Amino acid sequence: NSPVSAVVERLCATVPDYPKPGIVFKDLTPVFADGGALRQVVDSLVCAFAGKFDAVAGVEARGFLLAAAAAYATGTGVITIRKAGKLPRAVYAQSYALEYGQATLELHQDDIPAGTRVLILDDVLATGGTLGAASALLERAGAVVAGVGVVLEIDALAGRDNLAGREVVSLLHV
Ligand code: PRP
Ligand code: MG
Repeated sequence: NSPVSAVVERLCATVPDYPKPGIVFKDLTPVFADGGALRQVVDSLVCAFAGKFDAVAGVEARGFLLAAAAAYATGTGVITIRKAGKLPRAVYAQSYALEYGQATLELHQDDIPAGTRVLILDDVLATGGTLGAASALLERAGAVVAGVGVVLEIDALAGRDNLAGREVVSLLHV
């Protein structure tokens, strides 16, 4: 049984110049496609925050894969944080800068009971724009961010600085 960091490192694909020249893209689809690796990744993230959360939030799109699996494994619910224009009822909206481009995330205003402790999961922490916006949305909705878990963190982009005061767990640092 390899440590989870070694499994992620072995399966993660590195794609130079995607989606544009100069960006080195970390593709975790091979990790998700491997049954043993997916289970190890989800179990590790859940274990790191055991007893500290009541719900799991996933960030569209790749975060949904992890959040649904983690919620199912722990008998909790999934909170859906989506790209702009996808949620049908009243939302909070938060714009953020990506490593490439700009985007807005949204969260239904009434999907979470006040005080719910929410674990946020996503695949990659790069600049931290995405997870910073997701954290802000949950807090605006009255939730408590129990922590942030990612499979892979790109240390050079210092995304943690956008998550000050929240506990961040990354299974692999590159
Ligand atoms: C990617 C990745 C993270 C985010 C990390 O998502 O899945 O959510 O970027 O970057 P950041 O830390 O610089 O914000 P992307 O927005 O490309 O969309 P997707 O998950 O729908 O593919
Ligand atoms: Mg994403």
